[in-house]
Amino acid sequence: MNAQANLAVAMGGAARPRKSRWPARLDFAQSATGLFLGLFMWGHMFFVSTILISQDAMWTITKFFEGYFVFGRSFPILVSFVVATVFAIFIAHAGLALRKFPINYRQYREYRDHMGMMRHEDTTLWYWQVVTGFAMFFLASVHLYQMLMHPGAIGPWESADRVWSGLWWPLYLILLFAVELHGGIGLYRLAVKWGWFEGKDPAATRKNLKRLKWALSVFFIVLGLATLAAYIKIGMGRDARAGQEFVPSWQRSTVPARPAATPAITPPSAPATEGSK
Ligand code: HEM
Repeated sequence: MNAQANLAVAMGGAARPRKSRWPARLDFAQSATGLFLGLFMWGHMFFVSTILISQDAMWTITKFFEGYFVFGRSFPILVSFVVATVFAIFIAHAGLALRKFPINYRQYREYRDHMGMMRHEDTTLWYWQVVTGFAMFFLASVHLYQMLMHPGAIGPWESADRVWSGLWWPLYLILLFAVELHGGIGLYRLAVKWGWFEGKDPAATRKNLKRLKWALSVFFIVLGLATLAAYIKIGMGRDARAGQEFVPSWQRSTVPARPAATPAITPPSAPATEGSK
């Protein structure tokens, strides 16, 4: 009996069970925001990893989001609008997920005991989704705030400088594992919950989805590690550390920055003397 029913009985009235659609609506909202964030992260990882193609490629993607190819000049504020939208959805998703977190140590212990006893893979996956989600509350918020407030400081050299000299790489390293495990498990659970890709044999479908989930997580973790290594390598170099803005290769002036060194004037060869022979 819930608190409302208890109160009604205590007051001498009959308990009137009320049917509410809100739990279902909130569940749907959690799934929808999770799906959006999961798909966004796939796009995000592909955009960020363009650095593996070339510095020019990453510059082009950055400038595309700043509207450079539409307006003829960059408007980093456009990136801030996108970040603000993603941030709002991220906060909504985290708020909705909070409903399902254990609220005290007793609940947490009970869950852990059940998990240990049952040894049911999906139950264990849910636990890891809570742990990685909790880590992301802090790590992703810091990253999103930085992107929101400094959208103009994104680019092959600016990002590399932040990752290496700004010491963001430890945060990105942990965040990468957290987000890829969380996202992979989340999308798998969505597919199971809403019956996507359901075939004739539900057990076989679940097995295949689980394989796909691991494959996606591994793929994006490997891609993320390679990308992070590329930013670190550039960040260690002189160009990024000099704090200059990256200029794509086709916009670099062909005129040398410094006048070419004066060609050495070779003195006319002195007549050979006896001693020099
Ligand atoms: C619109 C919002 C976002 C923008 C514009 C953005 C942009 C970027 C950029 C430019 C980098 C390269 C490093 C740097 O410049 O500091 C980066 C790296 C990264 N971001 Fe985001 N990000 C966004 C949202 C998110 C979210 C929501 C998450 C996770 C929940 C996330 C996780 C990461 C991770 C893990 C890395 C490191 C990538 C790697 O290891 O290859 N980002 N992001």
